[in-house]
Amino acid sequence: MAAVMVVAVGCCKNEAPKEKGALEVIKARTSIRSFTGEKLTEDQIHTLLDAAMAAPTAADIRPWRFVVITDDEIKAGLYQGERHKKMVTEAGAVIIVCGETTRMVTPRGASEESAPEERPNPWWYEDCSAATENLLLAATALDLGAVWLSSYPNENSVARIKEYLGLPANVTPLAIVPVGVPAENPEPKDKWNPDNIHYDRW
Ligand SMILES: Cc1cc2nc3c(=O)[nH]c(=O)nc-3n(C[C@H](O)[C@H](O)[C@H](O)COP(=O)(O)O)c2cc1C
Repeated sequence: MAAVMVVAVGCCKNEAPKEKGALEVIKARTSIRSFTGEKLTEDQIHTLLDAAMAAPTAADIRPWRFVVITDDEIKAGLYQGERHKKMVTEAGAVIIVCGETTRMVTPRGASEESAPEERPNPWWYEDCSAATENLLLAATALDLGAVWLSSYPNENSVARIKEYLGLPANVTPLAIVPVGVPAENPEPKDKWNPDNIHYDRW
């Protein structure tokens, strides 16, 4: 049966709201690296973050944290290299998807008065990857474009972004996502490959 779930309503100025099915959005998403410079509305940013935070998350910990950058100077300072600098400068907003790498846990059997302990959250980057993909899909659903630029696990990138944005010690940037009105219209790649699939056993 065809997918009929509606994942988002359109948003763009002077246009009737559009609706796209979930599978249509998934197949339409492609990395967009060139933007018109138009700013995003608060509603658009809210929709993107709401979709990101709807992602699945191990033990329902929800370790994702987001830094939304709309200030042109701060965007421009994210990168030295011209290619990435152009991308983030032209984007309507840049959303840094970060993860809290630790969580507070009360040890099993501990008395009620015992203080919770800070423990690593081994799933943080999986959860934050799911959130990043949701964000990219929501951008497509809103007729916006976006691209996932990686930070983690590149140690230099992580250290640089952490310092630049003043992130707390236990918060690591996973992805840098410029989002905006596309200034290019590439065809989504068809990545279907039956060789990747094994049924029942490898
Ligand atoms: C973990 C991850 C890191 C990526 N990092 C970069 C990056 O640093 N620069 C870039 O231009 N694209 C980056 N991309 C985007 C990929 O290049 C892109 O998804 C891939 O070429 C497939 O194209 P598509 O997104 O249009 O389907 C990244 C994607 C992922 C999932």
